Amino acid sequence: MSTLLSAKNRGTIISLNGKIIPVDEANVSVFDRSFLYGDSLYEVVITYQGKAFRLKEHLHRLEKSAALCQMTFSQPIAEYERELLNCIAAYRAQKGRENEDVYARIVVSRGSGRIGFGLSNLETPTTYVVIVEPLSLFPNKPFSVGTKLQISKRMRNHPKTIDPAMKSGNYLNSLLAYLTASEEGFDDALMLDHQGFMTEGTTFNIFYANRGIVATPPLDVGILDGVTRRALINLCVELGIPCREVRFPKEYLYQADEVFAVSTTKEVTPVVQLDDRKINGGKIGPISTKLKKAFGELVTRELSLT
Ligand SMILES: Cc1ncc(COP(=O)(O)O)c(C=O)c1O
Repeated sequence: MSTLLSAKNRGTIISLNGKIIPVDEANVSVFDRSFLYGDSLYEVVITYQGKAFRLKEHLHRLEKSAALCQMTFSQPIAEYERELLNCIAAYRAQKGRENEDVYARIVVSRGSGRIGFGLSNLETPTTYVVIVEPLSLFPNKPFSVGTKLQISKRMRNHPKTIDPAMKSGNYLNSLLAYLTASEEGFDDALMLDHQGFMTEGTTFNIFYANRGIVATPPLDVGILDGVTRRALINLCVELGIPCREVRFPKEYLYQADEVFAVSTTKEVTPVVQLDDRKINGGKIGPISTKLKKAFGELVTRELSLT
């Protein structure tokens, strides 16, 4: 089955510059800078009972990414918000999909024009695309099973290269780390910085707990300021669990009582194996369990779910 046909069958909604278009007309120009140079930014939100969690925070990060990327949006951020909500509503307006939750991605390209880095080559404003897919297309390992991660030999981008604080469309480094991990039997990969300090996963942040204290790498090691990471740090404060932002080498994770990966799509996912070592004997620990529950309660409260 072609990609387009399968996208149609699963109810995918695509909008281009604020207009929902048929899936088979959703094409990007070969002169688009996202295609030529990875010169784009993106964000992902998911819904709970149809409501997007922390959409404004994601859009705020998109603005921060634009500043880091020297990109000036031709559209106001409120337009991106409206269109994301519009596409989510359009997905759920389809027959039989009224109660489905979604994965919604916005991609903003610097635009298209003549080949060449200079902005004088641009012939269009920033181009934005929203893709809404069923959330069921992005399955995670169940919480009770946990995930197996490899510590990649590939380094996380140095902040003086493509700054990891910027959520750009240029994910090749992380993608290659993922592919190697996957070929070697792991679910995903973690990356260290050039000094051997832990940074983050390919598309998620990382935490550990040891003797009741939770830790996660600080932003200035060169990581994405994850929306879920922030939520988790705040939840630790609320629950009275000490939580520190500290640099640490990979051995701290090997020796930790618990390790967990966090992101919009992963929420709180326990890590049961790291390289060839089992974490906590391969069992899910009490702090991950507590934080997973607290995260669910936070979502329910914040989005007034029933
Ligand atoms: C590199 C990286 N780190 C962390 C995250 C987690 O961020 P968030 O919790 O905002 O989804 C992501 C999400 O895609 C990511 O790509």
